[in-house]
Amino acid sequence: MAMRTVLPQNVALRRSVRDFAGVLQQALCAHQADDLETAERLYREVLDLRAAQPDALHYLGVLCHQQGRSDEGVELIRTALKITPRHPDAHNNLGNIHKECGRPAEAEACYRHALACAPDHHNAQGNLAVVLEVQERLDEAFEAYGALLAQAPDDARGHYLMGLFLRNHAQSMEHLEQSAECFRRAFAVDPRSLRALEALGVTLYALKRHDEARQVYRDWLAREPDNPVPRHMLAACGGAEAPSRADDAYVRELFDGFADSFDEQLLKNLDYRAPQVLAAALGEVLRPADGTLDVLDAGCGTGLCAPLVRAHARNLVGVDLSGGMVEKARLRGGYDDLEVAELTSYLQAHPDAYDLVLSADTLVYFGRLEDVLAAAHAALRPDGWLGFTLEAMEGGTADLEITPSGRYRHARRYVEDVLASRGFRDVRIQGDTLRREAGHAVAGWVVLAQRPSDALAS
Ligand SMILES: C[S@@+](CC[C@H](N)C(=O)[O-])C[C@H]1O[C@@H](n2cnc3c(N)ncnc32)[C@H](O)[C@@H]1O
Repeated sequence: MAMRTVLPQNVALRRSVRDFAGVLQQALCAHQADDLETAERLYREVLDLRAAQPDALHYLGVLCHQQGRSDEGVELIRTALKITPRHPDAHNNLGNIHKECGRPAEAEACYRHALACAPDHHNAQGNLAVVLEVQERLDEAFEAYGALLAQAPDDARGHYLMGLFLRNHAQSMEHLEQSAECFRRAFAVDPRSLRALEALGVTLYALKRHDEARQVYRDWLAREPDNPVPRHMLAACGGAEAPSRADDAYVRELFDGFADSFDEQLLKNLDYRAPQVLAAALGEVLRPADGTLDVLDAGCGTGLCAPLVRAHARNLVGVDLSGGMVEKARLRGGYDDLEVAELTSYLQAHPDAYDLVLSADTLVYFGRLEDVLAAAHAALRPDGWLGFTLEAMEGGTADLEITPSGRYRHARRYVEDVLASRGFRDVRIQGDTLRREAGHAVAGWVVLAQRPSDALAS
């Protein structure tokens, strides 16, 4: 810095003392505005002025994690905590990094430190409850959610989390009733909490209070006639004609809003196994992993499939309609390329491009499968494999149905017919449980099919 060298030393010193606070303020504003590049530059400027400035270390640590450099983030926050060991927010944020990196025990210790410094830190209390739930210490988790609500009866997140807890672990209708009450309360204290409203509708339907569920969506639509979520959910509850596929706006709205908590919700729902079950089934038909395949993760979400198929891939591409989910996948890493795009259009635009297309828990947002499976066939090279999961519709004569969760269920015979008519062979469908919902196992199909070599196809 040329300016500094021309100033007398004591002036330079005074200037740096005065300036660091202003630069830190600018850094925080840039960080809040999601301008991470500027924020990082400014935090580092503060640290040039004051090497051990704890706030700059702490928030730079948070930023590094947001950019996928979690180890660096942990180190920076630990350094900040050596300087200011009783900083509850820093302990809480360090816990969040551990939580998001799948280290719930370390996260728990951090949240407990935060609460030791500030017993009424609601955020840390809610996070503690979540990581106890993740570790399946359900009694302790229930107590921790209860403590949060006792501390902060107007905390919408607390009511929402308690509602999810009761629904995820429901052992009786009474738990579902209590869960619906929590969602209602979350929405009452914060009318912007639309995820609470959606959760309320789904729970009322699970309680067989169908009219009330429809009314929740009708009221929501009356307030927000352009919102695709209540429109889709009303159809899912039989209150309007079902679309043949969840429309793009609904998927975007749902998953963009969900991206931050998606992994946390899945972590808590330990029975979500679609990526693992699909990868295991593919392992039976693919040659041993030798890093030679061009692979598409279709509907990649936050990227849970990437580590499971990476060893097979020369090139691993993830595609998803939700920019929020793709951003999370980018942070998780493992892909050579990620794209925000609608799946059928993406497949249609990439003929003969892939040796493997896999899609975990994504075609459940498609009703009729003809177009997307034809596009997948065209995007595969001869001998390439397609693997996907669906929710299973057993019995009845219909091809598929939309369910009150907003997803579709498909009949096995329909899936077999569409795959055969689109030119696939060697179709293998096995039943499995892919997740639990409202205390019940959700039955699914794990489907594999191969595009035949050209000689066989003709
Ligand atoms: C339940 S998540 C599953 C994500 C990931 N495959 C996993 O198993 O963790 C479903 C994903 O499908 C995406 N999706 C749904 N419909 C889509 C479409 N038409 N085109 C692209 N992505 C879609 C959603 O945005 C969401 O990220």
